[in-house]
Amino acid sequence: MTPEPRIAPSILSADYARLAEAAAAVREADWLHVDVMDNHFVPNLTVGLPVVEALDRATDLPLDCHLMITDPDRWALAYAEAGAHNVTVHAEAAADPVKLARDLRAAGALAGLAIKPGTPLEPYLEVLTGYDLLLVMTVEPGFGGQEFLAEVLPKVREARRRVSSGHLTLAIEVDGGINADTIVAAAEAGADVFVAGSAVYAADDPGRAVRDLREQAHKAQA
Ligand code: DX5
Ligand code: ZN
Repeated sequence: MTPEPRIAPSILSADYARLAEAAAAVREADWLHVDVMDNHFVPNLTVGLPVVEALDRATDLPLDCHLMITDPDRWALAYAEAGAHNVTVHAEAAADPVKLARDLRAAGALAGLAIKPGTPLEPYLEVLTGYDLLLVMTVEPGFGGQEFLAEVLPKVREARRRVSSGHLTLAIEVDGGINADTIVAAAEAGADVFVAGSAVYAADDPGRAVRDLREQAHKAQA
């Protein structure tokens, strides 16, 4: 059984001058996805700690912080202390992902591990026993509005198999190119958390887009 689908709108596609309004527009979402980029791990620069702290004061939505940064071992904990509900670090960037997960949990956050499209799942299966969340990137990290890469879905299927068999206890999140069509394939493969940036914030009614995505994922799971 795959858990109830959760939708996490990404503010990367919102108006950065109106983040509180962007959060309020998706009240019915489950998490608010915050993409932290350092112009080093990815060729783009977004927001950091001060914005996460301010957002945390501005919304009741749990903040799902996706750190696309070099040296998360040094910076991730501060995001948990800033109020993030989840802190997700990239497997390709973390030097000691086991310790990182332990520290994040001790700070009261859920610990997430993200893998890029070309990064295999197998080397991280053991490490993932210490995590709460696996984020499978369905585009190359760095930018919103890219096309969904269906070829990464076997990793989602494999992760779901491991969770179903009791070997791992993880939420399985997909991020990149998720819309009302692609969410079906991702949900069928076993994802239960869906990040959507452009599909939510380019819509006339972001709240309605969230409800539609959830309904599509529900149908696909059934
Ligand atoms: C990309 C980010 C995503 C991005 C998704 O690196 O991690 O969270 O906002 O945007 P869409 O849904 O437009 O692909
Ligand atoms: Zn993201």
